[in-house]
Amino acid sequence: MATTVLVGAQWGDEGKGKIIDVLTEQADVVVRYQGGNNAGHTVEVGNEKYILHLIPSGILYPGKLNVIGNGVVVDPIALLEEIDHLQSRGITVNGNLLVSNRAHLVLPYHRLLDSIREEQKGKRKIGTTKRGIGPAYADKVARTGLRVVDLLSPDKFSEKLRRKVRETNEIARTFGAKTLSFKAINDEYLAASKRLQRYIADTIKLLNRLEHDGKQILFEGAQGTHLDIDFGTYPFVTSSNTTAGGACAGTGIPPHRIDKVVGVMKAYTTRVGEGPFPTELLDDQGTMLRETGREFGATTGRPRRCGWFDAVATRYSVMVNGIDELAVTKTDVLDSLSKIKVCVAYRLDGKVTDSIPADVDAMLRCVPVYQEFDGWQTSTKEIREFDDLPKRARNYLKKIAQLSGAKLAIVSVGARRAETIFL
Ligand code: IMP
Repeated sequence: MATTVLVGAQWGDEGKGKIIDVLTEQADVVVRYQGGNNAGHTVEVGNEKYILHLIPSGILYPGKLNVIGNGVVVDPIALLEEIDHLQSRGITVNGNLLVSNRAHLVLPYHRLLDSIREEQKGKRKIGTTKRGIGPAYADKVARTGLRVVDLLSPDKFSEKLRRKVRETNEIARTFGAKTLSFKAINDEYLAASKRLQRYIADTIKLLNRLEHDGKQILFEGAQGTHLDIDFGTYPFVTSSNTTAGGACAGTGIPPHRIDKVVGVMKAYTTRVGEGPFPTELLDDQGTMLRETGREFGATTGRPRRCGWFDAVATRYSVMVNGIDELAVTKTDVLDSLSKIKVCVAYRLDGKVTDSIPADVDAMLRCVPVYQEFDGWQTSTKEIREFDDLPKRARNYLKKIAQLSGAKLAIVSVGARRAETIFL
């Protein structure tokens, strides 16, 4: 399998958890490189359903090493809760999970600031997951963040924390929000740090050694390309590089050591939170996709906005990630439709374009130019070979891969491991 980066080619929730899970069989190591517990990767194993937020999906396979890289922002309490939850369901989290000592921490004041900022934005709110992700990355870039390594020096941790809580409380008072107690946070997080110590490591050195030893490493991207801080629909984005380049910055593995990039995309499009979504369906068809596809956020439970496949968006994703292979998920959700549309270009202020405008207000004005396909109107859930799919389904899948500009490699026809077609 070689060293593979897996990314979302749309606005997140592409079904990366399922594809990662399928690919993990051949991997030795699974690594998260960005984002935090804003992510929600759903994996179904047999009759069990798991939703992972911070821990790489490889944890569900015995014998795989799972690494939370330096580019991730880690909420220690959320991490411990996830460890406890997995253990309570019989999953081993012992010797198979490591957290980078250089990863930044998400602390309660980040969540408070996330809420205050969203409230202040009013109608222009981003619709964040309120997990404190943006403020944590802001602290990292402003060089005022606390890192996992600080958990190992309680005095230093407390001193930095005191300063940050004081600073945040001044902001909280300005906006009439509830202030935080330094002591309560300090006690809770120092206790958490004791439990977390066994997982903390210099993952940069370790990952490079494993890569040199020929181990198969799978980089698990979170969110999606159009939520990337640089390449997404800014400001309606998350605060990290969700794209393939993030895998290098977020783990310390150099770019020339990455062998392959796999892009995951749904056979249609969804988005959670605010921001432009040219192919969004606000009618019954959108409701049908939401209900058939069970499109509700894995982290927040929010209903996802649903729409047709947007090939302008995925073509851009193939370009910025260097996607070699595509995995198309949730094909079965389209099984009952008589007609299916694909956006092949945008019409912006009367002109047809295949570019994504940098200006978010221009993006909001983009109207999709559609190509229409006949649906296959038969169940694909039991099909395991590409050639056994209905001709119209094959045509549709080949067409969306061709429009996106990469090779179709995997087709998913259901949430379970077995419901997967390899080409
Ligand atoms: P944040 O990452 O919580 O700051 O949220 C910023 C934007 O990214 C919002 O529109 C969220 O809904 C979206 N977002 C964050 N994480 C995910 C995810 O895992 N899947 C889908 N959308 C996400």
